[in-house]
Amino acid sequence: MKHYYLMIPGPIELDPEILAEMSTPLVAHYGPEWVKFHNETVQIVKQVFRTQKSDLFLMPGPGSLAIEAALSSLVSDGSKILVLNNGFFGERWLKVSQSYTKQVVTVEAPWGEAISPDDVSKVLKREKNVRAAIVVHGETSTGVTNPVREIGQICHQNGVILIVDAVSTLGGVPLEVDEWHIDICATATQKCLECPPGLAPISVSPEAWKHIEQTSSPGWYMNLRTWKEYTIRWGDWHPHPVTMPTGLTRALRHSCEKILAEGLNERFQRHARMANLLRQGLYNLGFDLLVENEHCRSNTFTAVRADARISAPQLIKYLKDHHRIQIAGGLDRLAGQIFRVGHMGPTATVHAIVPTLVAIEEALRASGAKVEAGQSLGGMELPTSLSHV
Ligand SMILES: Cc1ncc(COP(=O)(O)O)c(C=O)c1O
Repeated sequence: MKHYYLMIPGPIELDPEILAEMSTPLVAHYGPEWVKFHNETVQIVKQVFRTQKSDLFLMPGPGSLAIEAALSSLVSDGSKILVLNNGFFGERWLKVSQSYTKQVVTVEAPWGEAISPDDVSKVLKREKNVRAAIVVHGETSTGVTNPVREIGQICHQNGVILIVDAVSTLGGVPLEVDEWHIDICATATQKCLECPPGLAPISVSPEAWKHIEQTSSPGWYMNLRTWKEYTIRWGDWHPHPVTMPTGLTRALRHSCEKILAEGLNERFQRHARMANLLRQGLYNLGFDLLVENEHCRSNTFTAVRADARISAPQLIKYLKDHHRIQIAGGLDRLAGQIFRVGHMGPTATVHAIVPTLVAIEEALRASGAKVEAGQSLGGMELPTSLSHV
């Protein structure tokens, strides 16, 4: 298969140092040396999650596995769940929730708009006995960031356990698990954590445990109680229920150390600056973003409306064929209408964004649009250093 430079919203282009960790000789996933390495890694990942009080597990599998584990562990006894739905992934969690319990209530917002905290507040006042709520932090299908801090405050005041899908945000934009009252936060390694896919880190707060321990949920691998049990019963030699992908765990440790060395705040500011660079470049080319409200636009990926000058599939194909750059199309009801660009970790850099903008300019020109060479960057001051800034 050909390699394309991955400007999609995950998986992303990886730092060669991370790939090198993946190809180190295999080690056993048990024994004192591994336990030390594993437990230290968990502590490092917890710093990226900004949690001290939660437990954290590295579940082998995709992000969806960790989120479904949260849902099945909390509501498979038929408890009531509130699903906040404003996109493709919100809809996925709605379907998964409905498969575990009949008591599902929703707050919806149109695709491209953020969930309103006031709506969440109203529903929680009206509905009794809601055990948990689930929200997608960065809705990758639309480019929206949902107001998780405000939603966390409301859930906390109402005694509702909050589950956050942070698959496309954790490590790229501010997310404070303890301070924002996030009880379960689940992500995946292939996006802002700058690793290949395959691990789903998930944090579980003491408040969430109180409910999980009262729930007679079925299953074994996806049952979070199993994960806790192994850290206790087998903690000194094999602190997880299954064989771990040791190379990927090494890669994750390396990437999280790198993330912390950059500094979380510096990193978030870099993602914000690079998102602005891309958005400004796209405006200069005459494009409109899907998300109209600038306050809820994601800094880790951007959804752009295609227009009469070039269709989304044509643009995507041109970038692949002529520049070996891969961007993404729209999902589900947005298929064919938008294109999406990821800017996470190594792709939230001038070296990744400027060539992408220049390639988009060229695609427009090739389809007959009047676009000057360099128009996307017109009037913009680019950082001169070759570092990430
Ligand atoms: C917001 C969000 N949630 C969940 C997922 C699913 O992640 P995975 O494919 O690792 O299960 C994705 C994948 O793109 C995502 O962007």
